[in-house]
Amino acid sequence: MKRLFFIFLLCPVFCAAQHETRIDSLLGRMTLHEKAGQLNQLDGRGTIDQLKELIRRGELGSVMNVMDPVMVNELQRIACEESPARIPLVFARDVVHGFKTMLPIPLGQAATFDPELVKQGARMAAAEATEHGIRWSFAPMADISRDARWGRIAEGFGEDTYLNAVMAAAVVEGYQGKELADPSSMAACVKHFVGYGAAEGGRDYNATHLTERQMREFYLPPFHEAVQAGCASVMTAFNDNDGIPCTANRFLLHDVLRGEWGFDGVVVSDWGAVGELVTHGYAGDRADAAVKALTAGTDMDMSSKIYIENIEKLVASGRLTEAEVDAAVRRVLRLKMRLGLFDNPYTEIAARSVTGGDAHLAVARKAAEESVVLLANRGTLPLGNFKKIVVAGPLADAPHDQLGTWTMDGDTAQTRTPARVLKARYGKRVEFIPALRYSRDRDTSDFARVAAAAAGADAVILFLGEEAILTGEAHSLAGLELQGAQTALLERLAATGTPVVAVFMAGRPLAIPRECTLSSAVLYAWHPGTMGGEAIADILTGKANPSGKLPASFPRMSGQSPLYYNHSSTGRPASGKEKPIEQIPVNARQSVLGHSSYYLDAGSKPLFPFGFGLSYTTFELGGLTLSADSISQNDTLRVSVTLRNTGRREGTQALQLYVRDHGGSVTRPVKELKRIARVTLAPGASERVEFTLTTADLAFWGADMRLRAEPGKFTLTVGMDSQSGLSAPFSLAE
Ligand code: BGC
Repeated sequence: MKRLFFIFLLCPVFCAAQHETRIDSLLGRMTLHEKAGQLNQLDGRGTIDQLKELIRRGELGSVMNVMDPVMVNELQRIACEESPARIPLVFARDVVHGFKTMLPIPLGQAATFDPELVKQGARMAAAEATEHGIRWSFAPMADISRDARWGRIAEGFGEDTYLNAVMAAAVVEGYQGKELADPSSMAACVKHFVGYGAAEGGRDYNATHLTERQMREFYLPPFHEAVQAGCASVMTAFNDNDGIPCTANRFLLHDVLRGEWGFDGVVVSDWGAVGELVTHGYAGDRADAAVKALTAGTDMDMSSKIYIENIEKLVASGRLTEAEVDAAVRRVLRLKMRLGLFDNPYTEIAARSVTGGDAHLAVARKAAEESVVLLANRGTLPLGNFKKIVVAGPLADAPHDQLGTWTMDGDTAQTRTPARVLKARYGKRVEFIPALRYSRDRDTSDFARVAAAAAGADAVILFLGEEAILTGEAHSLAGLELQGAQTALLERLAATGTPVVAVFMAGRPLAIPRECTLSSAVLYAWHPGTMGGEAIADILTGKANPSGKLPASFPRMSGQSPLYYNHSSTGRPASGKEKPIEQIPVNARQSVLGHSSYYLDAGSKPLFPFGFGLSYTTFELGGLTLSADSISQNDTLRVSVTLRNTGRREGTQALQLYVRDHGGSVTRPVKELKRIARVTLAPGASERVEFTLTTADLAFWGADMRLRAEPGKFTLTVGMDSQSGLSAPFSLAE
């Protein structure tokens, strides 16, 4: 038994050694041209005959966006039987939040604060995508985003480093399964390395100006966590940081990723990013771009064809060495070995498909349910027995938009929209008048009709938000207010005196202070995916109790961006008592307002803070205890707190543990999330919830750019959002 266990433990080591031996022998047989071919990744849409020719000549290592398993197998057969080195292809696709069965957008998944569920969702997506021949997904996106103007905030897990880290790792584990070689597993690709979410002004592709410390403290850890979870690949980001495009940043790719973290998987460029080194003004020409990207550590060239066109010439002229090329090829071959493609290159054409099945719909429904955040409730929700409700708004029946950005394969025919679900469940008691056809619509001609219907109803459920096309890549906004005549519609309906429940479907935090004032209750459902309508209907009617928490701070005004809870204190933090602009005396002297860090017109606080989300029940926290009030390096701190459900229905609370370090060799954020725990309690029930922290959780990159916990005073807070909770001090001894 003992021996078996030992063999089991050693198996990965043997497999890895075997892989390397096989790769050595392949490299020994390949021409430089074939090697360059392995580093070439191209889109398969619309160019199949040309593609077949490239494969036959050994000029292609990976194909994107072919999802017909019969075609995948045909291309694979050419690679395995007709190409010179007989090396299988790896087929890739952006499976970002589901394949056909769409989960909520990643930002919505982050709102679940439930990494186990996110992992389950990723596993489901892998099962569907691999059935279609896809073995490599360009996800998770682990870009911290503190700026809702950036369209791609939808694709990631929000503003917090810890939340991004646990969610990115969950997706990696879900995609890759127990064994990457399992045909239902898919290699993950954590992207975009790194700092992309800090695009200046929230405008996509824009430059970033992050210091090494900001990189290491906030932006790199989610990638590190994904790598530690075994992530098979990493994608470089489009942006240049401090003047160096990420696709050619040797410090980040070579020194940090490979050197410090020991990453031995593939680094793939983002789409055309090697070519864009020229556009950035960083490479003089395409050949120079190849040298800069490859020597920095970008192994595979996605779609710019620069490697395949230049590598041989560059080796001949001595600007690249064959050893540098071999190192990149080795990593591509290693990925293919790990995926088991050399032994099992073909996709089994499933006799019974799992795609879109009930089990998958159930996961998507649960994810949608847990992602919904209750932002306000003045007693209207859950809806009691009603005679009539009016359902309105441009997102009530938007099967395409509710799937969100990066819905490449999602089937709109399967989408359960709230309007259709509510109508199916309650028949004539539901009157549906959209009043606006899409989020930017300014045609108010139906407003009188919907207002008349609302006047005689128990409640209006108004679905507001943004179309999927206003979110995602290259879809940044300068203003975060609702588009079109949506606010006017809400004003009109609120004026009827009938309670209005506003349900937002959006890819980003929107600036909605007025909308929240006008509504009796507010739900934020992100773009909730295929099963969004079922989940929202369950929540509206009380069949389900909302438990989502905001993964990003909500601004009152667009101009507050970037906005995030874990900011620096500044030397003059706002007290929260600053005068609003209306109260500023006319002709006041310059010093009358004091000197603190806030906006005259927006204050210092978000509309809703990170981590915020209500429930239909109420919770109380008590009895916070720490195992010690002072710990030493390498000690563990045990924290416990009692959570009680003080309301009348079962509910789930996502508890959040934050730490503030009161002094260091560099200034520390006012708060940092360190742990989360979802706890479900029956009415009246309570539970003692335990957390453990180690001094590693207190570590940061000090003035000497070394990672360690520095002695001093800390405050620990356990709360139900980032702005409240129970606190206790502790210290770390010398
Ligand atoms: C995006 C990536 C994506 C790639 C492939 C790029 O434009 O930035 O996130 O994975 O395209 O589709």
